[in-house]
Amino acid sequence: MWTRFALTVAAVGLISTAAAAGQSPQAAPKPPANEDCLACHGDADAKRADGRTIAVDAKRFEGSTHGPMACVDCHADLAKLTEFPHTDTLAKVACASCHDDIGSKYHDSIHAWAKEKAGLTAAAPACADCHGRHDILKKTDAASRVARANIPSTCGSCHAGIKQKYDAGIHAVALKKGQSNAPVCSDCHTAHTIQRADTTAWRLGLTAECGTCHAGVVASFERTFHGKVNQLGSTRVAACADCHGAHDILPASNPASTISSGHLVATCGKCHAGSNERFVKYDPHPDPQNYKRGAILWWANRFYWVLIPGCFGFFGLHSLLWFWRSRRNGKERGR
Ligand code: HEC
Ligand code: HEC
Ligand code: HEC
Ligand code: HEC
Ligand code: HEC
Ligand code: HEC
Ligand code: HEC
Ligand code: HEC
Ligand code: HEC
Repeated sequence: MWTRFALTVAAVGLISTAAAAGQSPQAAPKPPANEDCLACHGDADAKRADGRTIAVDAKRFEGSTHGPMACVDCHADLAKLTEFPHTDTLAKVACASCHDDIGSKYHDSIHAWAKEKAGLTAAAPACADCHGRHDILKKTDAASRVARANIPSTCGSCHAGIKQKYDAGIHAVALKKGQSNAPVCSDCHTAHTIQRADTTAWRLGLTAECGTCHAGVVASFERTFHGKVNQLGSTRVAACADCHGAHDILPASNPASTISSGHLVATCGKCHAGSNERFVKYDPHPDPQNYKRGAILWWANRFYWVLIPGCFGFFGLHSLLWFWRSRRNGKERGR
């Protein structure tokens, strides 16, 4: 195992070799190179005084999206260091110093709030808890922690109960079958501007989010009483997740679904005290173009198609004739 002394000797050796190989000792001090840091941290057995590892896998770091960067681009308080060893405690890495747009988004999220204001310092995630440290990959890389398919596990490392529910739902099943268009945590909650799930703005916005994939169903929802009141900004009426659930959404044909014939009375009953078999015959997704779904609505729609143009046509013609007649009458009287 490395001792502190051995580490120091190794690094001092490295720096002095570099100096001997080229520059005069008087030249402006260059920031420490990655090899300088890796002389100590590149060893897989390197540990802190208290036994925790301080090893950095140089190969993985080089293969990461930050691979071309210097260690001290992130560990900025060592950028001006000329002599090792460095102090035991260093400043936290400020990812937002480069990713300032994402930093300011994150700053307004529930996670930052929990960390900074509610004192959940260890429990709530900072950038590195979701992205990693020395092995960060682009989100388009399948091995990245934030690649679509891996997002549920990354969030689920803390929200384990919700991950379990999510895994039981049709969205996770579709995702596992390789349907990359199935929603993951960040589609509904975002990645960096995550809000509490009981905020009105987020809940109202979610209907549109479901609609990015279920457009026809949202249109039918908006025809209903619930949908109209929801569009006026009320969260008291049922929106998608109140009937379908949030994480364990299942098709109506699955007996475990909140909208299966066995559960529907209870689902509506959360808000409608008198809910019963007859009450739940009400169609939550009416579609006037679909005869099979509801013949009455279809016929009513057709009836209005005839009635409304018929009415306007008839009275329009009536008015024209009236106008024509009254002008003729006027002319006759004037003669
Ligand atoms: C001489 C060996 C040596 C060299 C060279 C070295 N370190 Fe360290 N570093 C250590 C040791 C030992 C610790 C653990 C201190 C402790 O016990 O907590 C450490 C700890 C750290 C930590 C954790 C600090 C914290 O607050 O927990 C970071 C980050 C770090 N080093 C980065 C670097 C970077 C970047 C470089 C290159 C500029 C570098 N080190 C060069 C020996 C070295
Ligand atoms: C993209 C930014 C970034 C770069 C580049 C980077 N680090 Fe780190 N490093 C971190 C973060 C984040 C932590 C976690 C502690 C923190 O938040 O400050 C960390 C922690 C460490 C630690 C403490 C042990 C640990 O894993 O927690 C060591 C040692 C360390 N880095 C060494 C290095 C070395 C050596 C290099 C260059 C080969 C390097 N780092 C490059 C972001 C970076
Ligand atoms: C709660 C987990 C989480 C935290 C905390 C987090 N991210 Fe992300 N980040 C993600 C996810 C998930 C994605 C992928 C988003 C997507 O697919 O649209 C992502 C994407 C990114 C991207 C790729 C570009 C983009 O806009 O999609 C960058 C850069 C990034 N994050 C940086 C950061 C920085 C910097 C912080 C800290 C200020 C941070 N992230 C905090 C989860 C997180
Ligand atoms: C010194 C500036 C700098 C710092 C500090 C920094 N990054 Fe980056 N980061 C970059 C650059 C530049 C890229 C783009 C690399 C590329 O496009 O090839 C990048 C790329 C990324 C990506 C991939 C974006 C994508 O397209 O999916 C993520 C994720 C990311 N950084 C997260 C972090 C996190 C988390 C931290 C802190 C631990 C951090 N960065 C610290 C400069 C920085
Ligand atoms: C299809 C949209 C959708 C997806 C995908 C989704 N959520 Fe949610 N999430 C919701 C809704 C809606 C609520 C509000 C539930 C309620 O009020 O009963 C919620 C609530 C939450 C809450 C807070 C309330 C609670 O029940 O504790 C957390 C935490 C959460 N989700 C995390 C996650 C995680 C982690 C994932 C991925 C594994 C995820 N969500 C995937 C829609 C979604
Ligand atoms: C490092 C652990 C950790 C990770 C990773 C994490 N979270 Fe959280 N999350 C927390 C903590 C802690 C809270 C605050 C708890 C609270 O006050 O309810 C929180 C709060 C939330 C809330 C608000 C809960 C509410 O009560 O309304 C949502 C939604 C949420 N997280 C979603 C996500 C999503 C989506 C991801 C992945 C992109 C994620 N989280 C990743 C720890 C984590
Ligand atoms: C990113 C796209 C996406 C989003 C956002 C989304 N879904 Fe889905 N949804 C899917 C996919 C893909 C399936 C699986 C379809 C299939 O294979 O039958 C699905 C299936 C369903 C099913 C079962 C449908 C059936 O025909 O069996 C219901 C119900 C459902 N979603 C409701 C919701 C609700 C409610 C929301 C919002 C809280 C939502 N979805 C958000 C993509 C999405
Ligand atoms: C008042 C309760 C209620 C609301 C609100 C509601 N739904 Fe439904 N939804 C149902 C019921 C019941 C069914 C099953 C019967 C049917 O097909 O109409 C269903 C069917 C579906 C289906 C077809 C799945 C299947 O099993 O055939 C999808 C997809 C869906 N809803 C998505 C949504 C979305 C997205 C929203 C919000 C825009 C929403 N629902 C709002 C009750 C509701
Ligand atoms: C999240 C709560 C909630 C859920 C779940 C819910 N509703 Fe409603 N619904 C309301 C509210 C609030 C109103 C407004 C009228 C009122 O106060 O009764 C309403 C109005 C209605 C109306 C029109 C007004 C009336 O009372 O005649 C019908 C019909 C209706 N709901 C049927 C259903 C059916 C069927 C279900 C289950 C598939 C359901 N609702 C699920 C909250 C809900």
